[in-house]
Amino acid sequence: MPEQPDKAFYVTTPIYYVTAPPSIGNAYTTVAADVLARWHRQRGEDVVFLTGTDEHGQKVLEAAEQNGVSPMEWADKLVETEWEPVLAVIDASNDDFIRTTEPRHTERVREFWQAVYDRGDVYEGTYEGPYCIACEEFKLPAELIDGDGGDKLCPIHERGVETLSEANYFFALSRYADRLLELYESQPAFVQPESARNEVISFVRQGLQDLSISRSTFDWGVPVPWDDKHVFYVWIDALLNYTTAAGFGTDPESFARIWPADVQLVGKDILRFHAVIWPAMLMAAGVDVPRRVFAHGWLQVGGQKMSKSKVTAIHPSEVVDTFGSDAYRYYFMKTIAFGSDGSFSWEHMSAVYTSELANGLGNLTSRVTAMVGKYFDGRLPTGKSSGEAERQLADALSTAAKRAEEAVDRVAIHEAVTAVAEFVSRVNGYVTEQQPWKVATDESPEGRARLGAILYAAAESLRAVAVLHCAVMPKTAAALWEALGAQSLGALSDQRLQDVGRWGQLPPGVALTKGPALFPRLVDDHS
Ligand code: MSP
Repeated sequence: MPEQPDKAFYVTTPIYYVTAPPSIGNAYTTVAADVLARWHRQRGEDVVFLTGTDEHGQKVLEAAEQNGVSPMEWADKLVETEWEPVLAVIDASNDDFIRTTEPRHTERVREFWQAVYDRGDVYEGTYEGPYCIACEEFKLPAELIDGDGGDKLCPIHERGVETLSEANYFFALSRYADRLLELYESQPAFVQPESARNEVISFVRQGLQDLSISRSTFDWGVPVPWDDKHVFYVWIDALLNYTTAAGFGTDPESFARIWPADVQLVGKDILRFHAVIWPAMLMAAGVDVPRRVFAHGWLQVGGQKMSKSKVTAIHPSEVVDTFGSDAYRYYFMKTIAFGSDGSFSWEHMSAVYTSELANGLGNLTSRVTAMVGKYFDGRLPTGKSSGEAERQLADALSTAAKRAEEAVDRVAIHEAVTAVAEFVSRVNGYVTEQQPWKVATDESPEGRARLGAILYAAAESLRAVAVLHCAVMPKTAAALWEALGAQSLGALSDQRLQDVGRWGQLPPGVALTKGPALFPRLVDDHS
């Protein structure tokens, strides 16, 4: 890969269909991308985090018709009332929000495909075959499943497919099969995790069919520049959002800084679009392909197999209203192995909240700040009389920080959060073993010094936890930073992950405060 010294870390989510309100399924992708963005910022990197909405195509058109409004009115309404507000609900820190109906995008779509057309990779033909509107995807007859009435259904949505038969423009995708296989070989990180990579390789090895890229039976899309009776197929318009927002075709300097994308997160249902069609499109236009496409699993609710539409039953606000956005983010990022399917239940979420957050980190923080208050008038004592136990704690911190850093580089987000959570348990265990409340009964200078060393070590560990948990639980981390009086070290956002393991940063003498509980007890635990 060529060196780009000023390259930003560019992370994207898929853009969401404005057919219905967001679900915890959609929010899952956004939270994961947000954690990566915040983590990389905490390393001091220049970060660009993009999300947005996918507004063209038959599916959005149908939703608008069902609601008796124009597709543009419908899209505006959903973006304004649902898709933008949900970002604040889950505390997403996106740098840009792209809508595919914006002129900055539609103009780029036309230019991009005109260039591919001019290069000879687009031709006119006739398409006939099954199409699932819910997926906005052409299906192979062999992929379909049998319905009760002997009809053929989409395997993802378990709903009927329509048979399309029309004259279209085609993208010569089949020409790119060999170059794609070469890409998967030479850049193994291009599709991750490994299971997704294997799936994509075996799919492409079977040979690729050319892709129908235009439709003439409806007009809710970007008009094809060389034939205005057609609009572009929604996916080949939508995929280009990633290059549009990076400045492709308008701002070469920004494009050179941002592109290629470092991590493109997608759910496994849309892997082929991102790992096959998308890089082939870029190759056809002579643009670099992304560095990594990472497919995560599907969320289930209450252990039930869930289709994309069923999960819409739970809106992120419902969960955030009970647990807060930090606990929401922690739960989804820690308890589901990123890349595997996972499940959500109110009971499980309540249990994790209570044991790991309220009784874990929350209780630890209030114990430490309360003891510094009680035994040292709220001023952090020195850690001069530290011994073996404190050295071990410092070692545990540096191991946790290394594990977390290394896991984030593999997009193993759950491993990173787990490494930090295990360190929190370790600190809790340390305080319990050291029994500072007993040491406090020894009022000799040695006893006082020992008590100081224990509380210093616990507070210093929490200083590191604030930095390490900041990407996942930004509000909690900020409250913790304040409770520790750590503002004297500078703003939390200026703390670098590279330095987090350096022991002894909190200056003795700072004022600790026992603020409100970081994770209040649940009133209604949904059990
Ligand atoms: N508009 C397309 C993406 C175009 S990207 C150029 C799309 N939109 S979507 O709204 O249907 O889905 C967006 C994302 O939400 C996908 O990554 C999808 O996997 C994710 N999820 C939707 N339901 C989900 C679950 N139940 N579980 C986990 N993620 C799921 O596809």
